[in-house]
This record gives sequence, structure tokens and C-alpha cells, in this order.
Amino acid sequence: MYTSPFHTVDISNKTFLVTGGAGFIGSNLVEYLLKYNAKKVIVLDNLATGFEENIKPYIVLPNFEFIKGDICVLDDCAKACVGVDYLFHEAALGSVPRSIQNPIATHNVNATGFINVLIAARDAKVKRVVYASSSSVYGDSKVLPKVENQIGKQLSPYAVSKMTNELYGEIFAKTYNMEVIGLRYFNILDHDKILKEVCCGNTIIYKCSY
Ligand SMILES: NC(=O)c1ccc[n+]([C@@H]2O[C@H](COP(=O)([O-])OP(=O)(O)OC[C@H]3O[C@@H](n4cnc5c(N)ncnc54)[C@H](O)[C@@H]3O)[C@@H](O)[C@H]2O)c1
Repeated sequence: MYTSPFHTVDISNKTFLVTGGAGFIGSNLVEYLLKYNAKKVIVLDNLATGFEENIKPYIVLPNFEFIKGDICVLDDCAKACVGVDYLFHEAALGSVPRSIQNPIATHNVNATGFINVLIAARDAKVKRVVYASSSSVYGDSKVLPKVENQIGKQLSPYAVSKMTNELYGEIFAKTYNMEVIGLRYFNILDHDKILKEVCCGNTIIYKCSY
């Protein structure tokens, strides 16, 4: 857990949208932004895999707004983007096995939903979009340490959906003069959850699904 801020600018006059803000990473971002007095934090989430519980402490705050909506619906994205300065896009269907079982669902949310978010951000003149890509983009590349422009072939529909995000992110940045930044997360684990749920003596066992 952080004890000092990671940012250096004043965010008390900035409005943030966190898509997927009721999920694991999104709700931690929300907590951080509110802790450091963001002017407003908006969450757009359809609770497909996230939990209202994760954002419950913030519902009462005047500078917090929860929009229960779907990134697959352009209008939901447009409504959520009104007045937004910065957008963190975390909404997605995670899990490689899920994507193998249902590639259409993964594509709809992760690829089509992503374009909706980009279009809404473009139209609302959002200053910067920072989105969750994934280490799965490296695919079968054996290169170590990982280097951004040395990727292999993606190994799952989930990985392809994240690669698609990177291609669209770059095209939107160039074509519409937007700031779009993708972060290739590796496996992000909740420290408390590991201790409670998957600690087995001295051995931590977890399944890589991203
Ligand atoms: N956790 C990791 O280790 C990891 C690793 C690599 C990449 N990522 C990526 O980071 C992002 C966040 O991951 P997470 O671990 O917090 O996942 P999560 O499942 O906890 O959060 C995703 C959130 O998106 C929401 N969501 C799903 N479909 C939606 C839709 N159609 N409309 C609106 N909201 C929707 C879910 O309800 C959930 O709250 C995802 O894009 C994921 O692919 C995560």
C-alpha cells in the first residue's frame, strides 16, 4: 500500500473516469484518486466481474459518481466522459480460459468496448486515455527481459483482444491527435488476498490467467 503520492501535479481540479472501477485494479485507482482529493472520480462499470462492495465506501462522497453502464454501449461511454480530463480504462473481461471458452464475449467487451471508450474520449476531448494492456501481448516471445517492441505471436483470444487495443490505441492517437497510453500489466496480485486465500505453507500457488 502506498504511503505517499506517485503523482506530482495537483489533481484537485481534475475529473477522472475509471472504467471497470468496481474491479480489482480499477477500485484501487479510485481509492488512490479520492485519497488525493481529485475534483471528481466517475466509475463506469456494469458489474460483470466487479463488485459494488469495492466502491461502497465512496458512494456517499460528493466527488464520486457511479454509473452502472456497459462499455459495449457507446451512449454509456459518452455519458460517462462528459467533463472528464483523464480516463483510466480498466474495464475488460479478463482470463485466458474465459476467452478460449467464449471468444465473442471477450472480443465484444475488450475490443469493441475499447473502441467505444476511445470514440467517447475523443468526442469529449479527454486529455489522456491510459488503458490496461497485458503482458499476454508478448505471446510466445522468449526474449528476456521483455522489450516493448519485441513481441511474439499471441496465444489466446484474450491476448489478441489486448493486442487489438494496442493497434487501435496507436491509430487513434495518430489519427485523432489523442494521448493514448497502454500499460502492459503482468500478473497483478492482491497482497491481502494472497495471504488469505492462496498461501500454502511457504508456497504461493496461483494460476496465470493473463
Ligand atoms: N489483474 C491482472 O493481473 C491483470 C493483468 C493484465 C491485464 N489486466 C487488465 O487490467 C484490467 C483490470 O483488471 P482487473 O484484474 O481489475 O479485472 P476485474 O475483473 O477485477 O475488473 C474489470 C472490471 O471491468 C468491469 N467490466 C467488465 N465488462 C464490462 C463492460 N462491458 N462494461 C463496463 N464494465 C465492465 C467488471 O465488472 C470489473 O469491475 C483489465 O483490462 C485486465 O484485462 C489485469
